[in-house]
Amino acid sequence: MASDLKHADRHEILSSLPARIAYLQEFLDFGREDIEALASSRKVIKSILPSIVDKVYAKLLKHDITARVFVTRDSRSTEDPEEWPTLGGSTIQRRKIFLRWYLTKLNSDPTTTEYWEYLDKVGAMHVSKARRLPLHVDYIFLGASLGLIQNSLTESIFSLQDREVSFPQRLAMVKAIGKVIWIQNDLLAKWHLRDDQQENSTDEDKAPAPDLHAKMCPFTGASDTVVETDSNYDLLPVDSGTESYDALKDYKLLRLSQLEGRTPIEVVELANVEHLHDGSLELLVLSSDVSALRKALDAQPNAMLDLNYDPWRPTPEAEVYFGQTTASKLCREWTLTRAQRLKSQPSRAHVREYYTQLLEQNSGAQSYSSGDDGEERCSN
Ligand code: HEM
Repeated sequence: MASDLKHADRHEILSSLPARIAYLQEFLDFGREDIEALASSRKVIKSILPSIVDKVYAKLLKHDITARVFVTRDSRSTEDPEEWPTLGGSTIQRRKIFLRWYLTKLNSDPTTTEYWEYLDKVGAMHVSKARRLPLHVDYIFLGASLGLIQNSLTESIFSLQDREVSFPQRLAMVKAIGKVIWIQNDLLAKWHLRDDQQENSTDEDKAPAPDLHAKMCPFTGASDTVVETDSNYDLLPVDSGTESYDALKDYKLLRLSQLEGRTPIEVVELANVEHLHDGSLELLVLSSDVSALRKALDAQPNAMLDLNYDPWRPTPEAEVYFGQTTASKLCREWTLTRAQRLKSQPSRAHVREYYTQLLEQNSGAQSYSSGDDGEERCSN
């Protein structure tokens, strides 16, 4: 072999993600300059993410073949849904949040293994791997969406003025983004390629679906206080931090009481369900799903859904039972314990992020503030 000829092992490249990424990065000359260019473009890109998300969904809803997938979860299906998804509907609103999170991740530090693992997982999930509910999106639609994302990014960066970012810098940004996008493209395509079929199955693929736990939830009938309708929750960028997205805005915490029997609510994804000390339930739901949840509860006229639920404030019943001061202290203690536990829960990143932000929000406020009336309050 010539001395400057490097060996690249086909089996290794096709079966090991780090080897595949290393090969692609070397081939594309992805290096320090790109990492710096990506770091300097992060702020600019962050500001245009919402408009890119809007563009992608407007396109996907333009044709029946892609619009239908948001109902059927399969681009091979030819069946028309009873109701087509719309841009303003809750399904697409929810999907928009997820795509925004994805783009936030794409726009984060590419020097970590976790970064590329996430991009690979996104590819895997569109062929029903790494999630519980089946999902199949043919490669053509994934590649086309990625192309649209790349175009929008290029357009936005080049439309910046010289005084904002110099031309060489803009060029470096666009080149670096292009390389990342092409690696993502490979990580989408590889799950559809025949060549890779034998090599693609990693230990993770073979692992059984995540376990549902032992305790019974009266709300959904699912086992344990944790209810996941899908494995979406592990696809949230775990290192995106509060600056990147606002979990407290995207999700809402509600309290549900006086529920009689079991209510299987299939119309909404419940990110989390916690049993509170008084027998009521603390639900974590996407904000866009709140009205669907209210509707779903119509069948239970006695059920009370507290839309203004504040986990740091005791209920009036608790105040009567324990007295105001004790009720406030207990409420705070219970919420802190619950949030600490959920913050460090493995696997469900959305839930972790929400409760992390809830704790951070609370730590910014005074622990116990005295109101004008001198009353000690569980502050938020
Ligand atoms: C660049 C291309 C794409 C990217 C990066 C992408 C990204 C994602 C991500 C990150 C999720 C998981 C979110 C979560 O549930 O945690 C997801 C789910 C999903 N995507 Fe994509 N997607 C792409 C293209 C498409 C296309 C073209 C379609 C349909 C035509 C589609 C349909 C779906 C559906 C139906 C789900 C699952 C929804 C659910 O479980 O409720 N995606 N996608």
